[in-house]
Amino acid sequence: MNSPLTLSQQIDIQIATSGPISVATYMGLCLTHPTHGYYKGADPLGAQGDFITAPEISQMFGELIGFFLVNLWQQMDEPKRFTLLELGPGRGTLMADILRVACRAPGFRDALSLKLFETNPALTAQQRARLEAYEPKWLENFNDFDQGPVLIVANEFFDALPIRQFIRKADGWHERQVGLADGKRVFGLSPTPIPPETMPDGLAGAEPDTLFEVSFAAGEVMSVLSKIVAKQGGSILAIDYGYGQTQTGETLQGVRNHAYADVLDNPGETDLSAHVDFGALIGAARLAGLSTQPLATQGEFLTRLGIDERAAALSRANPGSAEDIRLARDRLVQSQQMGDLFKVFCAHSPGLIPAGFAS
Ligand SMILES: C[S@@+](CC[C@H](N)C(=O)[O-])C[C@H]1O[C@@H](n2cnc3c(N)ncnc32)[C@H](O)[C@@H]1O
Repeated sequence: MNSPLTLSQQIDIQIATSGPISVATYMGLCLTHPTHGYYKGADPLGAQGDFITAPEISQMFGELIGFFLVNLWQQMDEPKRFTLLELGPGRGTLMADILRVACRAPGFRDALSLKLFETNPALTAQQRARLEAYEPKWLENFNDFDQGPVLIVANEFFDALPIRQFIRKADGWHERQVGLADGKRVFGLSPTPIPPETMPDGLAGAEPDTLFEVSFAAGEVMSVLSKIVAKQGGSILAIDYGYGQTQTGETLQGVRNHAYADVLDNPGETDLSAHVDFGALIGAARLAGLSTQPLATQGEFLTRLGIDERAAALSRANPGSAEDIRLARDRLVQSQQMGDLFKVFCAHSPGLIPAGFAS
């Protein structure tokens, strides 16, 4: 039976009765609580929702990733059966744009086994409506792969996975927690420091009050998928806001109605996310035996894949939309817009040469 209590009330009762909870537990409840989690409710994307993503800005984003994937499939000698998996496919827009382009390559459609990994029932319904013709299957976990290579795509998925936060004090690193003071949710610290050997070596000389974030969930997903790709062949492409080397400082943020919002207010109604530590994901992929590319910015990646040529072709075909196409191209590529903030990560079987990277 569903609880009549709001998520806010449920969290406060849990803290009042069992004590403060870690930031990761708080974030996990806010995002994926079975009935009240942010990603269990209405579609959060688009002008009516809380934020807009690259595939929703322009079809060019998905089309270029379609070319990228066909190129890898051809490098693998066009296997007769392969899995294409998207993590967090949103409205299915990215995958629809990918497949419209990729299925023009002879043999790609027949070889395709489409898998989606999604937690949100409202978005799952949109994915079903949009991608029905490709007979997608939704994965409950990562144990259910067919034989053959696996190509994985994720746009703005890893930033939605819970992070833990630690703060340096005189006696060591304490985990940041969410507690209650005077009936209001507040941040606090675990009373006991964590064993120093569990922190990365580079943080040994950190100043007092330095904050360090880590997502074990993101590392675990990357590790599990990398092992599958290492065994069966293929690649993982992940695009997100993030940084290339483990760093300190807070990136946890709340977004509601296209504006920043307090992380502790309105649990379940605010999107919570954190910048992705791509350095950690690169480490997990390499440990599994995959090769990795130097991180590219989204602007570099899309430009190398030919967004300017694609924008010009689209404008020629739709002269009345030329200005909208130019604005969308700029939004995706320009450094002061999404171009530099978003980074592109690629891990792959040794021997493959993914398009769009510097090496
Ligand atoms: C920020 S949206 C990005 C959607 C889409 N990739 C796009 O670019 O428009 C995050 C996506 O990941 C899904 N998601 C978030 N947390 C998830 C989880 N723990 N397991 C599976 N899907 C999740 C969301 O429901 C949503 O589809």
